[in-house]
Amino acid sequence: LGTLAAVAVGGYLLGSIPFGVLITRAAGAGDVRNIGSGNIGATNVLRTGRKDLALATLLLDAGKGAVALLIARQLFGSEVAGAIAGGAAFLGHLFPVWLGFKGGKGVATFFGLLIAAAWPLGLMAGATWLIVVFALRYSSLAALIASAAAPLLALLPLSSVGLPVAAPILVLSVFTAVLIWIRHHENIGRLLKGAEPRIGAAKQA
Ligand code: G3P
Repeated sequence: LGTLAAVAVGGYLLGSIPFGVLITRAAGAGDVRNIGSGNIGATNVLRTGRKDLALATLLLDAGKGAVALLIARQLFGSEVAGAIAGGAAFLGHLFPVWLGFKGGKGVATFFGLLIAAAWPLGLMAGATWLIVVFALRYSSLAALIASAAAPLLALLPLSSVGLPVAAPILVLSVFTAVLIWIRHHENIGRLLKGAEPRIGAAKQA
């Protein structure tokens, strides 16, 4: 149990690095928490007008989830350890101690986790996100649909690419999807009112 607790703490600390805040500040683009939705994620970094910073935030927020899962899985040779580290990294992103526990919505970290856990699943969930974004240009709606789809995609009987996934990964996909939906309650409200800003729309809340 001590080992799994250490895995969880390590994952949490990695996940709690708030790359969106660090990157926008370092680039002199201000504090991302003061613009748009106030979220620390890549979608909101994009509202600074800096696509490069948004891409860096996306890759680093995804990367920290992937690295947490891969290191734990490698060190302990178990999917459970990987899933615990990954889940803890996800919680670190949502509730980082450094920001008074006010973190992000978890979408990039979720994709990093899926790609590391089972890349065909990450690829399919990522494709789902892209299709919705290209069709409707709502980042939040794309995340809601892709996260809800992930546990179903994880169950597809595609043994040639390692699906369905192992139970700990399935649990991780459900856990992260539920938290992503909870975290997007304001976005859901705006989507239902037709007030959610589309990607590429003028900078606004
Ligand atoms: O990744 C978060 C995205 O789904 C919504 O971000 O800033 O529009 O609330 P935001």
